[in-house]
Amino acid sequence: MRMVDIIHSKRDGQELTDNEIQFFVEGYTKGEIPDYQASAFMMAVYFQGMTARETAVLTQAMVDSGETIDLSAIEGHKVDKHSTGGVGDKVTFIVGPLVASAGVPVAKMSGRGLGHTGGTLDKLEAISGLQIEMSKEQFIENVNKHKLAVAGQTGNLAPADKKLYALRDVTATVEAIPLIAGSIMSKKLASGADSIVLDVKTGSGAFMKTLEDSESLAKEMVAIGNNLGRKTVAIISDMNQPLGYEVGNANEIKEAAAILQGADVPDLRELSLEIASHMTVLADAFSDYAEARKTLEENIGNGKAFDAFRSFIEAQGGDVSMIDDTDKLPQAKHHIDVLSDEEGFVSEIDAESIGVAAMYLGAGRATKDDEINHAVGITLKKKIGDAVQKGDVLVTLHADTETPEDSIQKVKQAYRFSQEKTERPILIHKVIT
Ligand code: URA
Repeated sequence: MRMVDIIHSKRDGQELTDNEIQFFVEGYTKGEIPDYQASAFMMAVYFQGMTARETAVLTQAMVDSGETIDLSAIEGHKVDKHSTGGVGDKVTFIVGPLVASAGVPVAKMSGRGLGHTGGTLDKLEAISGLQIEMSKEQFIENVNKHKLAVAGQTGNLAPADKKLYALRDVTATVEAIPLIAGSIMSKKLASGADSIVLDVKTGSGAFMKTLEDSESLAKEMVAIGNNLGRKTVAIISDMNQPLGYEVGNANEIKEAAAILQGADVPDLRELSLEIASHMTVLADAFSDYAEARKTLEENIGNGKAFDAFRSFIEAQGGDVSMIDDTDKLPQAKHHIDVLSDEEGFVSEIDAESIGVAAMYLGAGRATKDDEINHAVGITLKKKIGDAVQKGDVLVTLHADTETPEDSIQKVKQAYRFSQEKTERPILIHKVIT
Protein backbone atom coordinates (compact mmCIF):
# COMPACT_ATOMS: atom_id res chain seq x y z
CA MET A 1 0.00 0.00 0.00
CA ARG A 2 1.29 3.48 -0.82
CA MET A 3 0.25 6.69 0.92
CA VAL A 4 0.25 8.57 -2.38
CA ASP A 5 -2.52 6.28 -3.70
CA ILE A 6 -4.61 6.86 -0.57
CA ILE A 7 -4.25 10.64 -0.97
CA HIS A 8 -5.18 10.28 -4.64
CA SER A 9 -8.35 8.32 -3.83
CA LYS A 10 -9.50 10.75 -1.18
CA ARG A 11 -8.66 13.75 -3.36
CA ASP A 12 -10.96 12.30 -6.05
CA GLY A 13 -13.78 11.72 -3.57
CA GLN A 14 -13.53 7.95 -3.28
CA GLU A 15 -14.39 6.07 -0.11
CA LEU A 16 -11.34 4.54 1.57
CA THR A 17 -11.13 0.99 2.88
CA ASP A 18 -10.60 0.21 6.57
CA ASN A 19 -7.06 -0.97 5.73
CA GLU A 20 -6.16 2.26 3.97
CA ILE A 21 -7.29 4.41 6.92
CA GLN A 22 -5.48 2.18 9.45
CA PHE A 23 -2.35 2.24 7.27
CA PHE A 24 -2.38 6.04 7.35
CA VAL A 25 -2.94 6.40 11.12
CA GLU A 26 -0.42 3.72 12.10
CA GLY A 27 2.17 4.88 9.57
CA TYR A 28 1.91 8.52 10.59
CA THR A 29 2.06 7.76 14.32
CA LYS A 30 5.20 5.65 13.85
CA GLY A 31 6.84 8.37 11.76
CA GLU A 32 6.83 6.24 8.60
CA ILE A 33 4.53 8.62 6.72
CA PRO A 34 5.96 12.13 6.43
CA ASP A 35 4.16 15.33 7.46
CA TYR A 36 3.79 16.47 3.84
CA GLN A 37 1.74 13.40 2.91
CA ALA A 38 -0.34 13.57 6.10
CA SER A 39 -1.01 17.28 5.35
CA ALA A 40 -2.12 16.54 1.80
CA PHE A 41 -4.36 13.75 3.06
CA MET A 42 -6.04 15.96 5.65
CA MET A 43 -6.58 18.70 3.09
CA ALA A 44 -8.25 16.10 0.85
CA VAL A 45 -10.50 15.13 3.80
CA TYR A 46 -11.24 18.81 4.39
CA PHE A 47 -12.65 19.11 0.86
CA GLN A 48 -14.11 15.64 0.30
CA GLY A 49 -15.28 14.71 3.81
CA MET A 50 -15.57 11.16 5.10
CA THR A 51 -18.45 8.72 5.36
CA ALA A 52 -19.72 7.63 8.80
CA ARG A 53 -17.86 4.33 8.37
CA GLU A 54 -14.60 6.03 7.40
CA THR A 55 -14.85 8.43 10.38
CA ALA A 56 -15.52 5.55 12.78
CA VAL A 57 -12.52 3.60 11.42
CA LEU A 58 -10.29 6.69 11.67
CA THR A 59 -11.39 7.23 15.28
CA GLN A 60 -10.86 3.61 16.27
CA ALA A 61 -7.40 3.67 14.68
CA MET A 62 -6.53 6.78 16.75
CA VAL A 63 -7.80 5.04 19.92
CA ASP A 64 -5.69 1.97 19.05
CA SER A 65 -2.58 4.15 18.58
CA GLY A 66 -2.15 4.42 22.37
CA GLU A 67 -3.28 3.28 25.79
CA THR A 68 -6.91 2.99 26.83
CA ILE A 69 -8.24 3.34 30.36
CA ASP A 70 -9.83 0.20 31.71
CA LEU A 71 -12.70 1.17 33.99
CA SER A 72 -14.11 -2.35 34.32
CA ALA A 73 -13.27 -2.41 38.04
CA ILE A 74 -15.87 0.31 38.58
CA GLU A 75 -19.30 -1.09 39.39
CA GLY A 76 -22.20 0.04 37.23
CA HIS A 77 -22.63 1.83 33.94
CA LYS A 78 -20.01 4.58 33.68
CA VAL A 79 -21.09 7.82 32.01
CA ASP A 80 -18.94 10.70 30.88
CA LYS A 81 -19.60 14.15 29.53
CA HIS A 82 -17.58 16.37 27.26
CA SER A 83 -17.97 20.02 26.37
CA THR A 84 -16.46 21.49 23.22
CA GLY A 85 -15.47 24.45 25.38
CA GLY A 86 -17.06 27.67 26.46
CA VAL A 87 -16.62 30.64 28.76
CA GLY A 88 -18.05 30.27 32.27
CA ASP A 89 -18.64 26.57 31.62
CA LYS A 90 -18.66 25.06 35.10
CA VAL A 91 -21.24 22.42 34.20
CA THR A 92 -18.97 19.49 35.12
CA PHE A 93 -18.98 20.57 38.79
CA ILE A 94 -22.78 20.49 38.83
CA VAL A 95 -23.44 17.52 36.56
CA GLY A 96 -20.87 15.24 38.23
CA PRO A 97 -22.47 15.45 41.71
CA LEU A 98 -26.00 15.40 40.27
CA VAL A 99 -25.37 12.18 38.36
CA ALA A 100 -23.50 10.70 41.34
CA SER A 101 -26.50 11.56 43.56
CA ALA A 102 -28.56 9.20 41.38
CA GLY A 103 -26.03 6.39 42.04
CA VAL A 104 -24.49 6.52 38.55
CA PRO A 105 -20.66 6.45 38.45
CA VAL A 106 -18.75 9.31 36.80
CA ALA A 107 -15.02 8.67 36.28
CA LYS A 108 -13.84 11.89 34.73
CA MET A 109 -10.47 12.59 33.15
CA SER A 110 -10.00 16.28 32.53
CA GLY A 111 -7.51 18.78 31.26
CA ARG A 112 -6.12 22.22 31.97
CA GLY A 113 -7.13 25.41 30.21
CA LEU A 114 -5.33 27.37 27.54
CA GLY A 115 -6.49 30.67 26.05
CA HIS A 116 -9.94 32.09 26.66
CA THR A 117 -11.58 28.97 28.13
CA GLY A 118 -10.67 27.71 31.57
CA GLY A 119 -9.75 24.14 32.45
CA THR A 120 -11.71 21.89 34.79
CA LEU A 121 -8.59 20.92 36.75
CA ASP A 122 -7.47 24.53 37.21
CA LYS A 123 -10.90 25.48 38.54
CA LEU A 124 -10.96 22.57 41.00
CA GLU A 125 -7.55 23.56 42.32
CA ALA A 126 -9.11 26.79 43.62
CA ILE A 127 -10.17 24.50 46.51
CA SER A 128 -7.19 24.16 48.88
CA GLY A 129 -5.69 20.71 49.13
CA LEU A 130 -7.68 19.18 46.27
CA GLN A 131 -5.56 16.59 44.45
CA ILE A 132 -6.15 15.77 40.84
CA GLU A 133 -3.14 13.46 40.50
CA MET A 134 -3.89 10.01 41.83
CA SER A 135 -3.08 6.39 41.12
CA LYS A 136 -5.42 4.39 38.95
CA GLU A 137 -6.35 2.29 42.01
CA GLN A 138 -7.23 5.39 44.04
CA PHE A 139 -9.26 6.82 41.17
CA ILE A 140 -11.29 3.60 40.87
CA GLU A 141 -11.74 3.33 44.62
CA ASN A 142 -13.02 6.92 44.81
CA VAL A 143 -15.53 6.33 42.01
CA ASN A 144 -16.74 3.10 43.60
CA LYS A 145 -17.15 4.80 46.96
CA HIS A 146 -18.37 8.29 46.03
CA LYS A 147 -19.63 7.70 42.45
CA LEU A 148 -17.46 10.61 41.29
CA ALA A 149 -13.78 11.32 40.80
CA VAL A 150 -12.04 13.86 38.59
CA ALA A 151 -8.39 13.30 37.70
CA GLY A 152 -5.77 14.66 35.34
CA GLN A 153 -5.37 12.61 32.23
CA THR A 154 -2.78 9.89 32.68
CA GLY A 155 -1.38 7.50 30.14
CA ASN A 156 -0.65 8.04 26.52
CA LEU A 157 -4.21 8.34 25.17
CA ALA A 158 -4.68 8.65 21.41
CA PRO A 159 -1.10 9.76 20.54
CA ALA A 160 -2.09 9.73 16.84
CA ASP A 161 -4.53 12.53 17.61
CA LYS A 162 -1.86 14.59 19.39
CA LYS A 163 0.42 14.36 16.38
CA LEU A 164 -2.29 14.93 13.81
CA TYR A 165 -3.83 17.83 15.73
CA ALA A 166 -0.48 19.63 15.89
CA LEU A 167 -0.12 19.23 12.13
CA ARG A 168 -3.71 20.32 11.42
CA ASP A 169 -3.07 23.44 13.46
CA VAL A 170 -0.37 24.61 11.04
CA THR A 171 -1.92 23.36 7.78
CA ALA A 172 -5.36 25.04 7.99
CA THR A 173 -7.15 21.71 8.40
CA VAL A 174 -8.42 21.99 11.98
CA GLU A 175 -11.89 22.89 10.70
CA ALA A 176 -12.58 19.62 8.88
CA ILE A 177 -15.61 18.23 10.73
CA PRO A 178 -14.75 14.48 10.43
CA LEU A 179 -11.27 15.27 11.78
CA ILE A 180 -12.62 17.29 14.72
CA ALA A 181 -15.19 14.60 15.49
CA GLY A 182 -12.56 11.85 15.33
CA SER A 183 -10.13 13.86 17.44
CA ILE A 184 -12.59 14.56 20.27
CA MET A 185 -14.15 11.09 20.23
CA SER A 186 -10.81 9.23 20.14
CA LYS A 187 -9.86 10.80 23.48
CA LYS A 188 -13.31 10.17 24.98
CA LEU A 189 -13.40 6.55 23.83
CA ALA A 190 -9.89 5.91 25.13
CA SER A 191 -11.02 7.22 28.55
CA GLY A 192 -13.23 4.16 28.98
CA ALA A 193 -16.80 5.30 29.76
CA ASP A 194 -19.76 3.19 28.62
CA SER A 195 -21.88 6.16 27.55
CA ILE A 196 -21.13 9.76 26.68
CA VAL A 197 -23.12 13.00 26.64
CA LEU A 198 -21.57 15.68 24.47
CA ASP A 199 -22.24 19.37 25.01
CA VAL A 200 -21.55 20.94 21.63
CA LYS A 201 -21.42 24.70 22.01
CA THR A 202 -22.60 26.99 19.27
CA GLY A 203 -22.27 30.76 18.81
CA SER A 204 -19.77 33.59 18.95
CA GLY A 205 -17.88 32.19 21.95
CA ALA A 206 -17.76 28.63 20.62
CA PHE A 207 -15.37 26.70 18.45
CA MET A 208 -18.33 26.16 16.06
CA LYS A 209 -19.89 29.54 15.32
CA THR A 210 -22.97 28.45 13.35
CA LEU A 211 -25.79 26.12 14.31
CA GLU A 212 -25.36 24.26 11.02
CA ASP A 213 -21.68 23.43 11.72
CA SER A 214 -22.42 22.56 15.35
CA GLU A 215 -25.15 20.20 14.26
CA SER A 216 -22.90 18.50 11.68
CA LEU A 217 -20.19 18.02 14.32
CA ALA A 218 -22.72 16.73 16.88
CA LYS A 219 -24.20 14.24 14.41
CA GLU A 220 -20.76 12.95 13.41
CA MET A 221 -19.69 12.46 17.02
CA VAL A 222 -22.94 10.68 17.95
CA ALA A 223 -22.53 8.40 14.92
CA ILE A 224 -18.92 7.59 15.89
CA GLY A 225 -19.89 6.79 19.49
CA ASN A 226 -22.83 4.62 18.50
CA ASN A 227 -20.84 2.87 15.73
CA LEU A 228 -18.10 2.06 18.23
CA GLY A 229 -20.44 0.64 20.87
CA ARG A 230 -20.92 3.58 23.26
CA LYS A 231 -24.34 5.10 23.72
CA THR A 232 -23.86 8.75 22.80
CA VAL A 233 -26.14 11.80 22.93
CA ALA A 234 -25.21 15.35 21.94
CA ILE A 235 -26.81 18.54 23.18
CA ILE A 236 -26.25 21.66 21.13
CA SER A 237 -26.15 24.55 23.58
CA ASP A 238 -25.76 28.26 23.15
CA MET A 239 -22.46 30.09 23.64
CA ASN A 240 -23.45 33.55 22.42
CA GLN A 241 -22.72 34.79 25.94
CA PRO A 242 -20.87 33.27 28.91
CA LEU A 243 -22.74 30.58 30.82
CA GLY A 244 -24.04 31.75 34.20
CA TYR A 245 -22.72 34.90 35.83
CA GLU A 246 -19.27 33.87 37.01
CA VAL A 247 -16.01 33.49 35.05
CA GLY A 248 -12.72 32.53 36.72
CA ASN A 249 -11.60 29.66 38.89
CA ALA A 250 -12.82 30.30 42.45
CA ASN A 251 -15.78 32.23 41.01
CA GLU A 252 -16.96 29.26 39.00
CA ILE A 253 -16.64 26.83 41.90
CA LYS A 254 -18.68 29.26 43.99
CA GLU A 255 -21.45 29.44 41.37
CA ALA A 256 -21.52 25.66 40.91
CA ALA A 257 -21.84 25.17 44.70
CA ALA A 258 -24.72 27.66 44.73
CA ILE A 259 -26.59 25.81 41.96
CA LEU A 260 -26.17 22.52 43.82
CA GLN A 261 -27.77 24.22 46.83
CA GLY A 262 -30.77 25.42 44.82
CA ALA A 263 -29.69 28.82 43.44
CA ASP A 264 -31.52 29.87 40.32
CA VAL A 265 -29.11 30.86 37.59
CA PRO A 266 -31.48 29.96 34.77
CA ASP A 267 -29.12 29.06 31.90
CA LEU A 268 -26.57 27.24 34.04
CA ARG A 269 -29.12 25.27 36.08
CA GLU A 270 -31.12 24.32 32.98
CA LEU A 271 -28.13 23.11 30.94
CA SER A 272 -26.73 21.15 33.90
CA LEU A 273 -30.05 19.40 34.55
CA GLU A 274 -30.44 18.65 30.85
CA ILE A 275 -26.99 17.04 30.57
CA ALA A 276 -27.27 15.17 33.86
CA SER A 277 -30.73 13.82 32.97
CA HIS A 278 -29.48 12.42 29.66
CA MET A 279 -26.45 10.88 31.39
CA THR A 280 -28.59 9.04 33.94
CA VAL A 281 -31.03 7.83 31.27
CA LEU A 282 -28.13 6.46 29.20
CA ALA A 283 -26.97 4.61 32.31
CA ASP A 284 -30.50 3.12 32.67
CA ALA A 285 -30.92 4.64 36.14
CA PHE A 286 -34.32 5.96 35.02
CA SER A 287 -36.80 4.81 32.45
CA ASP A 288 -37.11 8.17 30.76
CA TYR A 289 -35.95 11.78 30.69
CA ALA A 290 -38.94 13.13 32.67
CA GLU A 291 -38.34 10.74 35.57
CA ALA A 292 -34.60 11.50 35.57
CA ARG A 293 -35.18 15.22 35.53
CA LYS A 294 -37.72 15.07 38.36
CA THR A 295 -35.42 13.01 40.60
CA LEU A 296 -32.36 15.18 39.90
CA GLU A 297 -34.32 18.33 40.70
CA GLU A 298 -35.42 16.66 43.94
CA ASN A 299 -31.80 15.80 44.69
CA ILE A 300 -30.93 19.48 44.55
CA GLY A 301 -33.85 20.30 46.88
CA ASN A 302 -33.13 17.54 49.41
CA GLY A 303 -29.37 18.21 49.60
CA LYS A 304 -28.23 14.90 48.03
CA ALA A 305 -26.51 16.60 45.09
CA PHE A 306 -24.57 19.00 47.31
CA ASP A 307 -23.62 16.10 49.62
CA ALA A 308 -22.23 14.26 46.58
CA PHE A 309 -20.15 17.36 45.74
CA ARG A 310 -18.84 17.54 49.32
CA SER A 311 -17.88 13.88 49.51
CA PHE A 312 -16.06 14.01 46.16
CA ILE A 313 -14.07 17.07 47.29
CA GLU A 314 -13.26 15.54 50.66
CA ALA A 315 -12.16 12.23 49.07
CA GLN A 316 -9.69 14.14 46.87
CA GLY A 317 -8.22 16.00 49.86
CA GLY A 318 -10.03 19.29 49.26
CA ASP A 319 -11.05 21.66 52.06
CA VAL A 320 -14.84 21.28 52.10
CA SER A 321 -15.26 24.27 54.40
CA MET A 322 -14.48 26.33 51.27
CA ILE A 323 -17.64 25.16 49.55
CA ASP A 324 -19.74 25.22 52.70
CA ASP A 325 -18.72 28.87 52.98
CA THR A 326 -17.56 30.04 49.56
CA ASP A 327 -16.21 33.30 51.04
CA LYS A 328 -13.29 31.11 52.16
CA LEU A 329 -12.29 30.46 48.52
CA PRO A 330 -9.33 32.55 47.29
CA GLN A 331 -10.34 36.22 47.11
CA ALA A 332 -8.90 38.88 44.81
CA LYS A 333 -7.53 42.11 46.31
CA HIS A 334 -9.69 44.53 44.30
CA HIS A 335 -13.28 44.48 43.03
CA ILE A 336 -13.70 46.93 40.18
CA ASP A 337 -17.08 47.75 38.68
CA VAL A 338 -17.07 48.36 34.94
CA LEU A 339 -19.86 50.82 34.12
CA SER A 340 -21.89 51.15 30.96
CA ASP A 341 -21.28 54.18 28.72
CA GLU A 342 -24.49 53.40 26.87
CA GLU A 343 -28.12 52.67 27.50
CA GLY A 344 -30.53 50.22 25.92
CA PHE A 345 -30.84 46.45 26.08
CA VAL A 346 -27.88 44.08 26.04
CA SER A 347 -27.97 42.40 22.63
CA GLU A 348 -24.62 40.54 22.61
CA ILE A 349 -21.85 39.63 25.05
CA ASP A 350 -18.94 38.26 23.11
CA ALA A 351 -17.98 35.31 25.29
CA GLU A 352 -14.51 35.04 23.82
CA SER A 353 -13.69 38.66 24.80
CA ILE A 354 -14.93 38.01 28.36
CA GLY A 355 -12.73 34.91 28.45
CA VAL A 356 -9.74 36.91 27.23
CA ALA A 357 -10.45 39.67 29.81
CA ALA A 358 -10.42 37.00 32.54
CA MET A 359 -7.18 35.59 31.14
CA TYR A 360 -5.58 39.07 31.27
CA LEU A 361 -6.52 39.20 34.96
CA GLY A 362 -4.61 35.94 35.45
CA ALA A 363 -7.56 33.49 35.54
CA GLY A 364 -6.28 31.67 32.44
CA ARG A 365 -3.09 30.92 30.57
CA ALA A 366 -1.87 32.78 27.49
CA THR A 367 0.93 30.20 27.13
CA LYS A 368 1.00 26.72 28.60
CA ASP A 369 3.64 27.58 31.22
CA ASP A 370 1.68 30.50 32.73
CA GLU A 371 0.64 30.24 36.39
CA ILE A 372 -3.07 30.47 37.21
CA ASN A 373 -4.37 32.95 39.77
CA HIS A 374 -7.41 31.20 41.28
CA ALA A 375 -8.74 34.30 43.03
CA VAL A 376 -9.29 36.60 40.06
CA GLY A 377 -12.23 36.58 37.69
CA ILE A 378 -15.31 38.35 36.41
CA THR A 379 -18.90 38.55 37.67
CA LEU A 380 -21.38 39.51 34.96
CA LYS A 381 -24.11 41.79 36.22
CA LYS A 382 -25.97 42.10 32.92
CA LYS A 383 -26.80 39.43 30.39
CA ILE A 384 -28.50 39.44 26.99
CA GLY A 385 -31.99 40.92 27.22
CA ASP A 386 -31.30 43.01 30.35
CA ALA A 387 -32.11 46.73 30.33
CA VAL A 388 -29.11 48.99 30.97
CA GLN A 389 -28.89 52.67 31.94
CA LYS A 390 -25.73 54.75 31.54
CA GLY A 391 -23.58 54.18 34.63
CA ASP A 392 -25.04 50.75 35.44
CA VAL A 393 -22.54 48.08 36.40
CA LEU A 394 -21.96 45.68 33.48
CA VAL A 395 -19.44 43.46 35.26
CA THR A 396 -17.33 43.40 38.39
CA LEU A 397 -13.70 42.51 37.84
CA HIS A 398 -11.99 40.68 40.70
CA ALA A 399 -8.36 41.63 40.21
CA ASP A 400 -5.05 41.69 42.04
CA THR A 401 -4.12 44.98 40.37
CA GLU A 402 -5.96 48.23 41.05
CA THR A 403 -6.71 49.25 37.45
CA PRO A 404 -6.59 46.29 35.05
CA GLU A 405 -7.00 48.56 32.03
CA ASP A 406 -6.71 45.90 29.31
CA SER A 407 -9.43 43.76 30.95
CA ILE A 408 -11.69 46.79 31.37
CA GLN A 409 -11.35 47.62 27.66
CA LYS A 410 -11.90 44.03 26.61
CA VAL A 411 -15.08 43.77 28.69
CA LYS A 412 -16.44 47.02 27.25
CA GLN A 413 -15.79 45.72 23.74
CA ALA A 414 -17.67 42.50 24.57
CA TYR A 415 -20.98 44.22 25.28
CA ARG A 416 -23.33 45.38 22.48
CA PHE A 417 -26.60 47.21 22.97
CA SER A 418 -29.82 47.63 21.06
CA GLN A 419 -32.55 50.20 21.51
CA GLU A 420 -35.22 47.53 21.11
CA LYS A 421 -35.88 44.90 23.75
CA THR A 422 -33.84 41.81 22.91
CA GLU A 423 -34.83 38.24 23.71
CA ARG A 424 -32.67 35.90 25.77
CA PRO A 425 -30.97 33.45 23.39
CA ILE A 426 -32.36 29.93 23.10
CA LEU A 427 -30.19 27.85 25.43
CA ILE A 428 -30.66 24.33 24.09
CA HIS A 429 -30.93 24.32 20.35
CA LYS A 430 -31.17 20.59 19.73
CA VAL A 431 -30.61 17.18 21.23
CA ILE A 432 -29.09 14.66 18.83
CA THR A 433 -29.57 11.00 19.72
N1 URA B 1 -10.78 19.85 20.08
C1 URA B 1 -10.16 18.66 19.87
O1 URA B 1 -9.88 17.93 20.82
N2 URA B 1 -9.87 18.32 18.62
C2 URA B 1 -10.17 19.07 17.54
O2 URA B 1 -9.89 18.67 16.44
C3 URA B 1 -10.80 20.30 17.78
C4 URA B 1 -11.10 20.67 19.05
